[in-house]
Amino acid sequence: MRDMPVTVLGFGMMGRARNVSYADVTKYYGDSPINPYIAQGFVLPHEADAARKLGWDVNLDLMDAVRNDKSEYVDICLPNALHHSVALAAIEAKKHVFCEKPLAISLDEAREMKEAAEACPGLLNSVNFIYRRCPANVYARQIAQEKQFGELLEARSYYNQSWGGPGTGFGWRFDVKAGGGTLGDLGSHAIDMLHFITGMLPSEVSATQVTHVKERMGTITKDDGSTERGPVRSYVDDGTRFVYNLPNGGIGSFECTRNAWGTNNTQGYEFYFENGAIRWSYDDVNYLEVYDPSARQRGWTRVLCNQGGFAYCHFAGGHMDGYRDFTVSACYENMRAIEGMKPIAPIATFADAYEVERVIEAVRRSNRERRWVKLDEVK
Ligand SMILES: NC(=O)c1ccc[n+]([C@@H]2O[C@H](COP(=O)([O-])OP(=O)(O)OC[C@H]3O[C@@H](n4cnc5c(N)ncnc54)[C@H](O)[C@@H]3O)[C@@H](O)[C@H]2O)c1
Repeated sequence: MRDMPVTVLGFGMMGRARNVSYADVTKYYGDSPINPYIAQGFVLPHEADAARKLGWDVNLDLMDAVRNDKSEYVDICLPNALHHSVALAAIEAKKHVFCEKPLAISLDEAREMKEAAEACPGLLNSVNFIYRRCPANVYARQIAQEKQFGELLEARSYYNQSWGGPGTGFGWRFDVKAGGGTLGDLGSHAIDMLHFITGMLPSEVSATQVTHVKERMGTITKDDGSTERGPVRSYVDDGTRFVYNLPNGGIGSFECTRNAWGTNNTQGYEFYFENGAIRWSYDDVNYLEVYDPSARQRGWTRVLCNQGGFAYCHFAGGHMDGYRDFTVSACYENMRAIEGMKPIAPIATFADAYEVERVIEAVRRSNRERRWVKLDEVK
């Protein structure tokens, strides 16, 4: 096992989460081929003291942190609009790249990132679609892809949160230019889950999107450069819904919003196959529910997925997993990929994340043009 210096960019929720993710890789997984450690971090000036308290070697120059030789691996935990320029610079500097989702804020950017990554096959290009690291979802994938219940007929996916009401101030997640909106933020996860589990993407979509809150309090920069608090116009999708057809003849529906009081971070799916069904909810994250109509005791069976024989079982069976564990497993899979080891469950590459971006673009186009959009139109 070798030590590997990592550069983390950003000190928000995800940048801070990386403190435990990297530190715990070799504690959870004794067979990790690499022991990653945070050697350097880019933060904004007001975050520097807090980052230093956590032991970070702070760099306030973003592109220097990407390019300098303090690490061989760059982890992008920045607002979405920065992913493109930073990832391209990292690949050019011959660094392994772990990028937060969504890959980019436009399909053109995403395509460029995918192509740059494909031109450097020796470098890791991995996107943090974190729910791939949930053992229940890996089991769902096995059931779907082994066609245990036959073909998928009907699908439902949802990812809803509740913090997007009129009382929430303007920040980058409500800014179109920064890559805000629910579809990229929440929807990208759920689209990737459909792809990861079933191996399919919608072949065509019919969508509607809405901006519920058109003005939020935020910081306004005046002509003289000074700032003041005031109302800022918001254009992002606060909510998105679409229906879709699948290439195998199945159909599905999809919803994501930040305006569903009481849901906090409620996501999940229901997949109905020819001869059975599976469903999962993040509210009950360790269980996959399976319905097998041929079973003598017909009914939904709650399968506990963190025990021996299931993916990422790093403690004794039944010691429940959560988001923190998934972030550790994500970093562990990156270490395995860098060393050319077979993944326990496939990482999301830039190419996979580009496929998600194609669906996102199809949904936006469908909403804009009020028509069905085929995925083949979007490349
Ligand atoms: N995979 C997941 O489960 C998951 C969950 C949450 C967020 N995310 C993604 O992680 C990324 C970061 O999200 P977050 O919640 O940590 O965001 P955040 O707003 O909490 O933090 C972003 C950080 O980026 C830096 N930053 C902000 N504005 C900047 C600017 N203009 N220039 C340079 N640096 C700047 C700062 O260090 C800031 O703390 C986003 O792409 C988001 O979609 C992923």
